[in-house]
Amino acid sequence: MPKPRVLFVCLGNICRSPLAEGAFRQAASDAGLEAGADSAGTANYHVGKLPDERSIAAAREHGVDITAQRARQLAAADYTRFTHIFALDEDNLADIRARAPKDATAEIALLMDAVPGQEGEAVADPYYGGPEGFQQTWREVRMAAEALVARFTR
Ligand code: 4NP
Repeated sequence: MPKPRVLFVCLGNICRSPLAEGAFRQAASDAGLEAGADSAGTANYHVGKLPDERSIAAAREHGVDITAQRARQLAAADYTRFTHIFALDEDNLADIRARAPKDATAEIALLMDAVPGQEGEAVADPYYGGPEGFQQTWREVRMAAEALVARFTR
């Protein structure tokens, strides 16, 4: 299988998709999988910003440093640069599909579809809640990351 290049997409690219990228990088590294990984937002509200400090803290608790990440918006070139684009929720999925250019080659899917028994589920937006929501986000994206790495290393 060619080296996977995976893009995780949420709304703001400061809470959920930075954690998904961090969890995937960690899971790939643990498994010795060579893969590209990045994240983006459908919205442009937070472009250039660091991940939310609660995401940084949740990742750090699990040994992952996500402070090199900066928010960016999903771009047309992403649909060919990446082999897979994973949406964190259904709104993100609909936006990603609606903006796909005609020459898009990336496979587009809902992230939690990778996790047996959690197909069709959203990774809920923790932005307006407390820090415990970010731990829940970490658990979900870590499960998905492990499932993706298992798929890519089969
Ligand atoms: P994210 O969370 O999509 O997981 O990065 C959000 C971050 C910011 C906003 C919404 C969701 N916002 O409305 O500013």
